[in-house]
Amino acid sequence: MSELNLILIGPPGAGKGTQAERITQDFRLAYISTGDEMRAAKETDEDVRRYVDAGELVPDDIVCKVLFKRMDAEGDDGFILDGFPRTRPQADVLNEALERRGRRLTAALLIEVDDEVIVQRLAGRRVCKNGHPYHVDYNRPKHDGVCDIDGLPLVQREDDQPDTIRKRLRVYHEQTEPIVDHLDDQGVLRRFDGTRPPGEVHDHIRATLATLRLEDQL
Ligand code: AP5
Repeated sequence: MSELNLILIGPPGAGKGTQAERITQDFRLAYISTGDEMRAAKETDEDVRRYVDAGELVPDDIVCKVLFKRMDAEGDDGFILDGFPRTRPQADVLNEALERRGRRLTAALLIEVDDEVIVQRLAGRRVCKNGHPYHVDYNRPKHDGVCDIDGLPLVQREDDQPDTIRKRLRVYHEQTEPIVDHLDDQGVLRRFDGTRPPGEVHDHIRATLATLRLEDQL
């Protein structure tokens, strides 16, 4: 069966983590979130903590080092990268790294949501220590304040304060949005309406990936 190598791209709060969790289960892919990796790194690295909590991008060299170490440890049965690449240099480094490993990107899944919706969503987001996302209105856990998956308490993320959310949106528009055209030129971009309910977004992504996989086998 052909290997699916995917990236998830979109503004903060678009639902990348929510969809990644589902797609990972559908297709049994290795899930690598640079956001989760950076939140783990900030526990011991004061520089990383300052960038993440302020809603700024962590420098490319730090993120790339952590990412490729993880990628090599995961083997070659396909992956889903959540939150990488976020800059043009990161996109170039990813292409070179895949080429060196004899692999290629299958698709870049862009989840599109307007800024006003994002601010409302992130204010209501709650996560457990392992990063599983919920929402106080749109995606409630079975038991209030407790993660369905691992039973850990749900809390608000440090960077989900209104000012920091706006800063993250600015960073997205300035630094990450420009690589969308580049991915489109590469022929790998697929767009999804992230304002639909999570289940609908998931159905759409799953159908697209099933088609891509079939086409690959023809
Ligand atoms: P990261 O963790 O990647 O943050 P982000 O891109 O800002 O994305 P989020 O995790 O906030 O949102 P999401 O799209 O996953 O949405 P979610 O599914 O949770 O990165 C954090 C930081 O790490 C960065 O700011 C940076 O400092 C650093 N970093 C990471 N990668 C980096 C890189 N490559 N280079 C440099 N620095 C890097 O959903 C949001 C909420 O909405 C949830 O409550 C959810 O339940 C709800 N929801 C989801 N889908 C729907 C829906 N369809 N309808 C209604 N509600 C929904």
